[in-house]
Order: sequence, then C-alpha cells, then structure tokens
Amino acid sequence: MNIERDLHIAKGEGETSYVNNSRLQQKALLETEVVLEKAVREVCMDIHQPTMTSVDLGCSSGQNTLFFVSKVIKVVGRDNDEKSRCNSVELQFFLNDLPGNDFNHVFRSLERFKESITAEHKENTLLPAFYIAGLPGSYYTRLFPRQSCHLFHSSFCLHWRSRGLLKKEKLDSFNLPVYTPSINEVKAVVTQNELFNVSHIKLFESNWDPHDDSQGDDAHNTIQSAINIAQSLRAVFGPLLASHFGESLLNEIFKKCAYYVTGHLAERGEGKYLLICVSLKRT
Ligand SMILES: C[S@@+](CC[C@H](N)C(=O)[O-])C[C@H]1O[C@@H](n2cnc3c(N)ncnc32)[C@H](O)[C@@H]1O
Repeated sequence: MNIERDLHIAKGEGETSYVNNSRLQQKALLETEVVLEKAVREVCMDIHQPTMTSVDLGCSSGQNTLFFVSKVIKVVGRDNDEKSRCNSVELQFFLNDLPGNDFNHVFRSLERFKESITAEHKENTLLPAFYIAGLPGSYYTRLFPRQSCHLFHSSFCLHWRSRGLLKKEKLDSFNLPVYTPSINEVKAVVTQNELFNVSHIKLFESNWDPHDDSQGDDAHNTIQSAINIAQSLRAVFGPLLASHFGESLLNEIFKKCAYYVTGHLAERGEGKYLLICVSLKRT
C-alpha cells in the first residue's frame, strides 16, 4: 500500500462518498469556528504585506473543503472598515491534499463558491479580493518557500501519520497509519519544537454518530447509529481498505463494522469522539 497514492477520501457524490458522509468533520469545524476567527483576526492585524497567504492542509473534496476559505474571507471582509489594518488586504489561499484527492471536483466548485460568497456579502463592507489555488503533496514534506505563509489550518487530518513505518510492515499486515495523541502529547511536541507557542488548546467531545446531535450519553437507536458510524468511517477509510483488501470486500467489512459498533453502543452507551482544537502562534 502506498499511502500518498492510495489515501484519499471516498470520491464522488454517491451514498458512500465523503461528500455525503462528512457531517462528523463538519461539526468539528463548527466547534472550532471561534478559535479560527480569533486567529484570522490576529494574523490579519499583524501582517505588513498587501497579501495574506493562508493554507488548508488536508482540504479533501466535499462540502467542508471551502469552509476555511469562506471563514477567512468573511472575517477579513467584516473587519474591512476604515479603522482596520485588515483593510484592503488581498487573500491568497492554497488548498492542500494528497495527489489522489479529487482536486477537479474542488476546482469545478469554485465558480459557484465565488458567486455565493459575493451574493451573501453585506453591501456596506468590502469583499476582499481572493485567489484560490490547489496544492497537491504531503504536508509531511516541505510545501512552501520559507516564511511565505501567514496562516495554516488543518481539521480532522493530523492523526494521519507519515509513511516510514508502513513500508517496513507492508508485507506482514494492513496497518492503519493513524495516531490520536493526548492533549499533553500535543503540548509536549509543540514545546519540544520551540517554534510555536500554544495560544489556545481545548479538548472537546462530539457524538460518534454524525447524525446524532443530542447531548446525553445514551445511544437512542443503536442499530441506526451504528450504521451511520460505519458509513462515515467508510467515507474516510474505505479507499485505503479497498486498495489493500480489494473493493469487493468493502460492503462486507462495513456491515461487520456496523455489527460490532451496535454491540459496543448497546454495552457502553453513545460513542464519543475526542477532538483537540489547537491554535499556535509563531514564537
Ligand atoms: C477526514 S479528511 C478531512 C478533510 C477536511 N479537512 C474536513 O474537515 O472535512 C482527511 C484529509 O487529509 C488528507 N491527508 C491525509 N494525510 C495527508 C498528508 N500527509 N498530506 C496532505 N493531506 C493528507 C486526506 O487525503 C483527507 O482528504
């Protein structure tokens, strides 16, 4: 298995696509909106150049892809009054993902995105000029010239590890290159790195079932919840499993997955995802 080639979310707009199964990730984006707004404002006030360059690492292709872009445009646009230093800054965006990502789908959606953001924009504020480019490549490699970007964003991505380890074990077994660190491990890595300060870090919980917006710990309909969970896992892990075990096994694998998740929910109550929202500032 070659991660850079085989890892991509489930393409298209069908029932098992990421487009139709990314509600879990969407909820995480909404949860971190306030932190993102604050970071955008701070960066915008700090830059001494006419262009602010922002990057979304692991943008994928689906309904969440342009969330970051639209948020930055709206925050800068809202602050675009006479007193603000953000006034007249132009925005350059890079949408990054692995080469297997459906960038064509993203590019095709840009025209509609531009129209809708222009239509939404309030008449009494200036819509900043913005330019959007795709950037295929792994974020574990160098993607930009030194000091050329002002703001990096990444959501639901950094649990994907780099690929060294994987090659060595490739012949023996399937290896899902995912690591979910604790909040202390994240802080330790940042401290060790010495390049950033943590401006904000918070752990939050999201229901494992993307369609369950309830607050409590009980899973109301364990079977339906398990199906929803298996479907959202398939949209992300399906293509990798298909490349290792073959496409024909996917239905069976995710049926089994829903079966085990039903048992887990019945025994342990509603499943929760723990997510870390972190905002870093260059030292
Ligand atoms: C679960 S999706 C999240 C997408 C989007 N940010 C969202 O919130 O919906 C994870 C994305 O990270 C990308 N990804 C994983 N490892 C990567 C790497 N090393 N470099 C660039 N993108 C990567 C995957 O291809 C996938 O599109």
